[in-house]
Amino acid sequence: IADIQENIDHELISHEQIMSKIEEVAAQASKDYEGRVPIVMAVLKGAVCTLTAFTQAMTCHLEMDFMSISSYGKSMSSSGSITVRQDLTSDVKGRDVLIVEDIIDSGYTLDWLVKELKRRGAASVEIFALLEKPARRMVEVDVKYKGFEIPDEFVVGFGLDCDEQYRNLDCIAVLKPEVYEGALTQ
Ligand code: PRP
Ligand code: MN
Ligand code: MG
Repeated sequence: IADIQENIDHELISHEQIMSKIEEVAAQASKDYEGRVPIVMAVLKGAVCTLTAFTQAMTCHLEMDFMSISSYGKSMSSSGSITVRQDLTSDVKGRDVLIVEDIIDSGYTLDWLVKELKRRGAASVEIFALLEKPARRMVEVDVKYKGFEIPDEFVVGFGLDCDEQYRNLDCIAVLKPEVYEGALTQ
């Protein structure tokens, strides 16, 4: 982990701040879904850390599922064209689906996903997004469970990557400028 730490310029949100926010949101969501069994789904890969912490803090019954979606491709910003790399295994027809995302940037990924889940017949679709970058929003997305609003800076950690690395960092951080220069993808 030492070489990872050397590449960090500064920490934006600490592990403790992330965990306490996730616990707060999980308590609210557990109340809201009491008596139902939602499918809590991670948008892979970025949401993997948030899904783990969030579901462990939830107290109602739930199922987990995963969909791997990419909107960035080989660029530093969202392209708006969505690629499904791996689909859910659950049939969402008639089910309450709670999407867990690491970050909303342009909103293209979630806009597409919410429409897709409704097209498949989900009874309800809600979103928990750990991070939001309001400055970069291109499409409106209705987010019921919110984490942190962050400035328009390229961040890594807690699932978020830079060229597929840094997802294992336990906080949200900004890398040194020279690290980004060598990287092609978020
Ligand atoms: C990132 C991030 C969100 C999405 C947000 O995923 O994890 O899923 O982009 O951007 P948007 O609001 O502009 O659509 P990415 O495509 O990098 O895939 P990954 O999760 O596998 O890193
Ligand atoms: Mn993602
Ligand atoms: Mg990414």
